[in-house]
Amino acid sequence: MIEALDPMGTPEDAVNDLMSRPDFDHEYIHHLPTSMRLLDMTAFDELYYPPEIAGSFAESVDMLIRAAYARRNPLEPAVMADLYNKRELMKAQGVHGATLAGMILLVGNSGMGKTRLVRAVLGRMPQGIVHTKYAGTSFNATQVTWLSVDAPIRGSQKGLMLRMLSALDEAAGLSGTPAAYGPLHHKDSVDSLIGTFGTAAANHHLGVLHVDDLQRISSLRSEKYTALQFIIQLANAVKCPVIFSGTPDIEQDYAKEFEAIRRMCSGGYFQLKRSKEFGQRLLKAAFKFQWTNTPVQPTDEQIARLRTYTQDITSVTLLMYKEAQRLALQNGDAQLSSEHFRRVYHTTLRPMHAALRALRRGGAEAEASYENLFPQNASRSGDPT
Ligand SMILES: Nc1ncnc2c1ncn2[C@@H]1O[C@H](COP(=O)(O)OP(=O)(O)OP(=O)(O)O)[C@@H](O)[C@H]1O
Ligand SMILES: [Mg+2]
Repeated sequence: MIEALDPMGTPEDAVNDLMSRPDFDHEYIHHLPTSMRLLDMTAFDELYYPPEIAGSFAESVDMLIRAAYARRNPLEPAVMADLYNKRELMKAQGVHGATLAGMILLVGNSGMGKTRLVRAVLGRMPQGIVHTKYAGTSFNATQVTWLSVDAPIRGSQKGLMLRMLSALDEAAGLSGTPAAYGPLHHKDSVDSLIGTFGTAAANHHLGVLHVDDLQRISSLRSEKYTALQFIIQLANAVKCPVIFSGTPDIEQDYAKEFEAIRRMCSGGYFQLKRSKEFGQRLLKAAFKFQWTNTPVQPTDEQIARLRTYTQDITSVTLLMYKEAQRLALQNGDAQLSSEHFRRVYHTTLRPMHAALRALRRGGAEAEASYENLFPQNASRSGDPT
C-alpha cells in the first residue's frame, strides 16, 4: 500500500507541489473584449499560495498515512483474518482502547483556507488505486488512499455515516454500480452502518479519513462529544488515521474532555492563523494576475490599506480582489485603483462588516465574535461568488 504512493519528499517539495497558478497570459487577454475577460477571470480561483504551515502539515499527513499502512500489511494472514469481523472488534474496543492510528487537528477561523489546504494536501495522492498483483502473486484490491467529508450542519451521526459511505463509493469507483454501499444501506441503523463502513473501509485499505467542520454537527456540546467519540471508535477499528478541521470552536467544545482533545491531536496540531506576512504575500501574489489593460504594482501603503479592509482573512482578500477587478472591467477602466477596492468593500463585503469590525477592535474576544458574526457559508470553497 505504501509502495503505491510516491516516495515521501521534504516539506519544501510539498509546498512546491501545492503552489498553483492560474493560466494567465496578459498578451492574449489584451486582445479580448470585456465579456471574454470576465469569463477568463474565473481562472483566478486556481491561484493557491500555500500558507506557512503547509509544508509541515503535508509532511505530518504523509507520515500518518504511511505509518498506518505499515501497521496493517494486507499480505499478512493475521491482518486478512481481521478484515471480516469488524463489528465484533468495534464492540470490544471502546474509546479507551489503545490508540492505533494518529489524528491531526487543524484549526483556523472561517475563511482562512482549512478545507482547501487539507484537500490540496490529500489531492497530491491518487484517491483510488487498483491493484491486481503484488510481487508476482495475484492481489486484487482497490486502495482508497483518502476520504474527505463535511460534517452535516446540525446533522445526525447517521447522516455523517451515509456521507462517508457515498464518499467511499465515489473513490472506489462503485457509485452507480450494484456494489455501491450508499444506496444499499441507507435504511440501516447507525450501529449497522458503523459495521458496514468499518468493513468497507478496511477492505479498501483506507489511508486517511478527513472530517471537516465537526463542530457544526450539533449546537449541543454533549452531542458534539458523542460525534467525536463515535469517529474515534470507528477509526480505531478501521486502524485508519483521521484529520479533523474546524473553527476554534472545536477546541473550546472539546477542551473540557481532555481525553478527546488529546486524541484529536495525537498526530499533530496545526493552526491557520491570520498573519500580516501571509496577508501581504497573498495580496502580492494576487496582483500578478490582472485582467485590466494596464497592470499596476501596489505600493506597500496600498497593501496596508487593503489589509485593514480584509483583516488578513484569506477568503475576504481573494473575494475583494476578484470583485474589484470585475468592477474595473465593467466600468471600462484601464487599471485597478484604490477606488475600486473601496467600492467593493462598501458593497459586496457589506454583509461581513460586523465580523471584520470585530477583528479590527482586537482583544481577547475578537476572534470569537468574528466567528459568531461571519455570514454562514460566505467563504465555502466552490461557492459562486
Ligand atoms: N492559500 C490560499 N491561496 C489561495 N486561495 C485560498 C487559499 N486558502 C484558501 N483559499 C480560498 O479561500 C476561500 C476559503 O477557503 P476555505 O473554504 O478552504 O476556508 P475554510 O477555512 O475551510 O472556511 P470555513 O471555516 O468557512 O469552512 C476558498 O475560496 C479557497 O479557495
Ligand atoms: Mg471549510
